[in-house]
Amino acid sequence: MTEATPQHIAIPAGILERLRSAKSVAVLTGAGVSAESGIPTFRDKDGLWANFDPQKYASVEGWAANPQLMWGWYGVRRDAMRQARPNPAHIALCRLEDYYPDFTLVTQNIDNLHRLAGSTDVLELHGNIFHFRCSEEHTLIEDAPGLDAPVDAEAVARGEGQEVPRCPTCGALVRPDVVWFGESVEAAIYTRASAATKRCDVFFIIGTSSIVQPAALLPYLAQRHHALLVEINPEPTPLSALADLALRGPAGAILPPLVDLITATPTPSPTLP
Ligand code: OAD
Repeated sequence: MTEATPQHIAIPAGILERLRSAKSVAVLTGAGVSAESGIPTFRDKDGLWANFDPQKYASVEGWAANPQLMWGWYGVRRDAMRQARPNPAHIALCRLEDYYPDFTLVTQNIDNLHRLAGSTDVLELHGNIFHFRCSEEHTLIEDAPGLDAPVDAEAVARGEGQEVPRCPTCGALVRPDVVWFGESVEAAIYTRASAATKRCDVFFIIGTSSIVQPAALLPYLAQRHHALLVEINPEPTPLSALADLALRGPAGAILPPLVDLITATPTPSPTLP
């Protein structure tokens, strides 16, 4: 395994050749890829779970107990995500999509930033915060009274809930189209993600702590099917020991020069100063 810093991406020649010549590539991203867009991660020192109890704010039980609180909390996050813009990491991944004949982007993020950057066919394992469903019939809802009502962030910070819109068809509560603790990832999406993982030559793991299932199983599946594993993260994770290449640093600093290296005409030196 080779480690590197953003200032000096050193990649063994054999690995660089595998990155350049791969035909099929799959990528798993997590909250870290959006950190440089100003969106907080979950488990870093100042991450969301340091301040908010996931059982209360992001679980099936939390919704049953207090849907107004969860609606308000997701509303505040939605407003912040609406203001956010893709960063160089999101954009570099679009360049990889153009380079490889078969490219699959799997994300745990609900912020829509990969799509906004221009990635097509993003497999959103945990849903999309800008989409909504009926909480009882699970039908997608595009419009409902109050759906776009501004959220009072200060009230939410004080722990006060916000009024939840109702499904225009059946009157049940509307919910964000995201996956909560206690729920399963949509089977059709996971099936596509695992198929791409099994056939890929290279599997990138970017900005995820790699502990939430079933996403965290994908790198193991890729390895069992002989893919090269490349991790990009400022910190070691439980998957680092498995990776063939672990690049330490922020994704927005590592990915652009890495993509330059991969897509450049091969040169005698595999090192970019
Ligand atoms: P985590 O917060 O668990 O992990 C974020 C990872 O990003 C950490 O390993 C950081 O070291 C890394 N990181 C931080 N800044 C970075 C940067 N600039 N570039 C690259 N990496 C960086 O977030 P996830 O792994 O995405 O689920 O969490 C997975 C799921 O757990 C989320 O989708 C969410 C959460 O509970 C639900 O809410 C259902």
